Amino acid sequence: MSRVPLPYSQKILELFRNPKNLGKMEDATVSAVAGNPQCGDMITFYLKINEHDIIEKASFESYGCAANIATSSIVTEKVKGMKLEDAWKITWKSVAEEVGGLPAVKFHCGILAVGALRRAIRAYYKNKKQIPPEWLPKELTFEEKQALEEEELARILSKKMKMAEEGT
Ligand code: FES
Repeated sequence: MSRVPLPYSQKILELFRNPKNLGKMEDATVSAVAGNPQCGDMITFYLKINEHDIIEKASFESYGCAANIATSSIVTEKVKGMKLEDAWKITWKSVAEEVGGLPAVKFHCGILAVGALRRAIRAYYKNKKQIPPEWLPKELTFEEKQALEEEELARILSKKMKMAEEGT
């Protein structure tokens, strides 16, 4: 059976072939693993943050698709040199625009990239055990809710599999 190729932009294809900041960061200040319940793919985001809460560098590991690799690559480029407060404001829509648009079935891949970034920022303040800054929402944002922690993702996927086996 032949598959219809997805209408990926040139930019996505370029970044998929040659992603920036791909790989584990050994000296990261914080990392966050995040998975998407729609496709079951996972990524890890690494941030090196200095004492002024500025991101010195960012990298990622992805087991996701071309759209996820391209959007994660863009996010890691964008946040370099940014204050955490400004990095927090990056939206998945702006990232999608920067890669030349995402097919609708691939929106969640861009959301996963931004959700993982936000989870890493939230984890940074949690690890510091100090009162979080005012700009950090108390509730998880939409993007974070879509970028589930590993255990949560495993729980949801096994529930889905069980339901499929039982034919519900
Ligand atoms: S299909 Fe899973 S990250 Fe794109």
